Amino acid sequence: MMKTYHSIFRECMVVQSWSRRHAKGCVLSSPLSSKWNCKMVMVRCQSTEIPRDDRTYYITTPIFYVNASPHIGHLYSAVTADYLHRYKLLRGFKTRFATGTDEHGLKIQQAADAASQDPQSFCTEVSQRFKHLFQSCNISYTDYIRTTELRHRCAVEHFWTVLQSKGFIYKGNYEGWYSTQDESFLTLSQVGDAKDSSGKAVKISLESGHKVEWMKEDNYMFRLSEFQSQLRDWLEGNPRAVQPERFHRIVLQWLQEDLPDFSVSRQTKRLWWGIPVPGDPDQIIYVWLDALVNYLTVAGYPDKHSQWWSSVHHVVGKDILKFHAIYWPAFLLAANLPLPQTIHVHSHWTVGGKKMSKSLGNVVDPLERSQRFTTDGMRYFLLRQGVPDTDCDYDDDKVVKLLNAELTDSLGGLLNRCTATSLNPTQVYPYFCINSFPTRCAGGQEGRAAAEDYHMLDSVYALPAVVEQHYESMHVYKALEAISGCVRQTNGFVQRHTPWKLNRADSEDQKWLETILHVSLECLRIYGTLLQPIVPEIADKLLSRLGVKQDEKSWAALDFLAKYQGKQCPFEGRTLGPDTGVLFNRLERPNAEKGSSKKNKKPAKFQS
Ligand code: MSP
Repeated sequence: MMKTYHSIFRECMVVQSWSRRHAKGCVLSSPLSSKWNCKMVMVRCQSTEIPRDDRTYYITTPIFYVNASPHIGHLYSAVTADYLHRYKLLRGFKTRFATGTDEHGLKIQQAADAASQDPQSFCTEVSQRFKHLFQSCNISYTDYIRTTELRHRCAVEHFWTVLQSKGFIYKGNYEGWYSTQDESFLTLSQVGDAKDSSGKAVKISLESGHKVEWMKEDNYMFRLSEFQSQLRDWLEGNPRAVQPERFHRIVLQWLQEDLPDFSVSRQTKRLWWGIPVPGDPDQIIYVWLDALVNYLTVAGYPDKHSQWWSSVHHVVGKDILKFHAIYWPAFLLAANLPLPQTIHVHSHWTVGGKKMSKSLGNVVDPLERSQRFTTDGMRYFLLRQGVPDTDCDYDDDKVVKLLNAELTDSLGGLLNRCTATSLNPTQVYPYFCINSFPTRCAGGQEGRAAAEDYHMLDSVYALPAVVEQHYESMHVYKALEAISGCVRQTNGFVQRHTPWKLNRADSEDQKWLETILHVSLECLRIYGTLLQPIVPEIADKLLSRLGVKQDEKSWAALDFLAKYQGKQCPFEGRTLGPDTGVLFNRLERPNAEKGSSKKNKKPAKFQS
C-alpha cells in the first residue's frame, strides 16, 4: 500500500486560516499574551549546529498504542531496535535505548470506553503488558516512557510553546477526512469507498483500510508548508537519513508534492484524553505531536538534552514513515533542534498473507510464541526472516524448521562435536599447530589443511566486516545468512577431516586433531561474539562453554585465530566452561503427528 503515499499531499485539506498573514515571519517573538504562556516562552533554544559525540548512540522504538495487546509486529519493532542497541554496546558506544507506550488520543479514549474503564487505569494495564513482553524478550531498553507521565506533559507543553512563539502554530480551522484508527488526516485521494460489516456505505483510508470520518472544527494549525525545501535539502544532503534507500526515495517523492499546513489540535468536547493546548483548555494537542515528543522527553528535554539528542536514531514501521520523516523533522526544524541521524524503516509481518486483525483471528501473540519457541528462538526467527524492504509472512512451521536447522543442528551440532569428551577428554581449549595448518605463504611446507580450509579461514576473517556492514544497514538477515554460511563451512571442515578417526597415540595425528578443534572453536568464538546482539542467551551460553570471559566478548576482542598469524592466543590451554548442555533444544513441529515426535531427539550427532 506504500504506493498510495506518493499522492499524500496532492489534494489540500480545506484550510482557512485567519491568522496566517498575521503570524508569518514571526520568529522568536511570542504572539501569546497570557501570563502562563509568557513564562513558558522563556525557552532554551538549541542550535542545529551542535557538534555530536560520535561515541554516543540513542536509539528509539516507536511508542506503542495501548488500545490492544502487543502482537508479533510490535515485537519486531522492539527486537530491531534492541539488536542495534546491543550491537553499539558491543562496539563500545555510550548508549541509551527508549521504548514505551502512546496513551493519548481518540482511539485510546474509545478503547477505554469500550472496556468500561477509566482511560488512566486502562492505559496502565495495557502498558504493563508491553513492558512485560519486552522484559521477557530481553529487550535491553534503558528508558520506558508513557505519554501520560508528568515529565512528558512538561516536554510537550514546552515544545508547543516554542513552536507557537516562533509563529509556526496558528489558529485556523480544519475540514477534511480523519481516521481515528490511524489518528491521521487524509487527503481526498487517500480516501475510497467501501461497505462496513452491515453493508452500509462508508469511506475508508486506502492505505490502512480503516474507516474515516469527515471532520470540521476550529483548531490550531502547523505551518508544514514552510518546511518543504528544508526537508528536501536535508534528505538530499543526507542520503542515509532514511534507510533502506527505497524508503528514502519514497519520502523524497512525497516532497515533490505540496505540503499543506495541518491541524495539530482537536476540540476538547470531542477528544478530552490528551494534553491540553497551553493557555487554551478547549483544545487538546494532536496525539502525533504529543507522541513524537516522547523521543525528546527521554533525552531530557526541555532541560539538558543535547548530548543524547544529537545522536538520536529512530526505528519505525513503514506505516508511520510519513510522521517520522516529514512531520517530525518539520517540527524539529521549527523548534530549531537537530534532526534525527537515521530513520530505520522496516516492513510488516503478515499472517497467511494477510494483515493481522482481530476480526480475521490471525493475530500472533508474541509472548506465547516466545514461551513456545524460546525468547532467543523468536528473536532469531524475526531477524533472520524479516526483510526491511518487503513484507514477510509469519508461520509457526517456518519457525520450527529454521531454528532446528540453524540453531539446533548447524550451530549447536558444531559446538557439541567440537567440545565432546570423546574428542576432547581433557576439556581444555586445544592447541594450534602451525606445522599441521601452515600459512599459505609458508611455501613448500606440507601441512594437512586442504584448499577449502583456507577458503573457510578467508570467510571467517572477513565475517566481522560483512556482519558490521549488514548490522549497520539493518539488513540483519544478510548478516545472519553470512554467519550461517560460515557455520556450514566449519561443519564441512570437521566433516572433511574426520577427527574421530585420527590415532591419538600418534603425536602428529594428535597435533592435527587438536588443530582441527582449535580452529573450530575459534570459528565458534567468532560466531558467538557476532551473534550476541541477536540471541544474547544462546551466545552467552556458547561463549561460556568456550571459556571466554566477560571482557573478551567485545567486538574489539574478536581477533580470529591469532596463532595462525603468529600471535599469542589467550584461550589455548584454558579449561572449557562446565555447561555441557544442549545449545538449543530441538523444537517439535506444530501439529506433528503422534509417534513421529522428535521432542527428545538430541542435536544432530556427527555423521562419520
Ligand atoms: N503509536 C504509534 C507510534 C508513535 S511513535 C512516536 C504507532 N503505534 S503502533 O502500536 O500502531 O505501532 C508501533 C510499531 O509497530 C510501528 O513501528 C508499526 O509499524 C509496528 N507494527 C504494527 N504492525 C506491524 C506488523 N504487522 N508488522 C511489523 N510491524 C508492525 O504507530
